[in-house]
Amino acid sequence: MISVAIDGPAGSGKSTISKIIAQKLGFVHLDTGALYRAIAYFIDKNNVDFNNENEVKKCLKFVDLKIEKSGAEQKILLGGKVLSSELRSLNITKIASRIASYRCVREYLLNFQRDFAEKQNVVMDGRDIGTVVLPNASVKIFITASPEVRAGRRLEQMSKSGEKPDYNEILDAIKKRDYEDTHRVIAPLKKADDAAVIDNSNMNLNQTVESVLSIIKERVESI
Ligand code: DC
Repeated sequence: MISVAIDGPAGSGKSTISKIIAQKLGFVHLDTGALYRAIAYFIDKNNVDFNNENEVKKCLKFVDLKIEKSGAEQKILLGGKVLSSELRSLNITKIASRIASYRCVREYLLNFQRDFAEKQNVVMDGRDIGTVVLPNASVKIFITASPEVRAGRRLEQMSKSGEKPDYNEILDAIKKRDYEDTHRVIAPLKKADDAAVIDNSNMNLNQTVESVLSIIKERVESI
């Protein structure tokens, strides 16, 4: 199986890019951040104290997480219910970030993600795909951009959906999340030694997609 591991910080555009790449190559895309968010959603719905790692560990037994493919898209099902926009709220973002630092959660999702990559050609995006989840991935890419550019993109996205966000607040939140993601003890956000780096601060979406595709074609002869 061919696996493309795409890692990077929040707001680098990696999920959007990964989805397009998967469509172009006929692979399946898995946004692994959505898996952490789905567990956060379960915790929230069941009033589990997300600051208590032991309580979180106990509740994982009851998490019924599945992925259903529809073309290159993936649907995340929790207890049979499809989840999408409910995973994007600020509250779920906050809980996901917290529980992503727990070993029990990372181990639970590690097997889940590896099983997925064994069954099909994948483009998987996250924070630790090239370093921990798929250390033997066929291609590893680390996509990044400056915090200011990422905050600007988020501002534009939120303004389009009618919100009136404050740039400095967004920038602070991005810097805080970068810090948490890169400083956690287990599986921190880090470039794999053999990953190609793309800094897309001065690139648009098309340019980034083209750049990712050319790296994949360079590294995987059969594509
Ligand atoms: O990419 P995202 O914002 O949807 O990710 C949600 C949270 O999950 C984020 O705080 C980082 C964490 N995460 C992780 O620790 N490892 C991954 N492979 C993907 C996401």
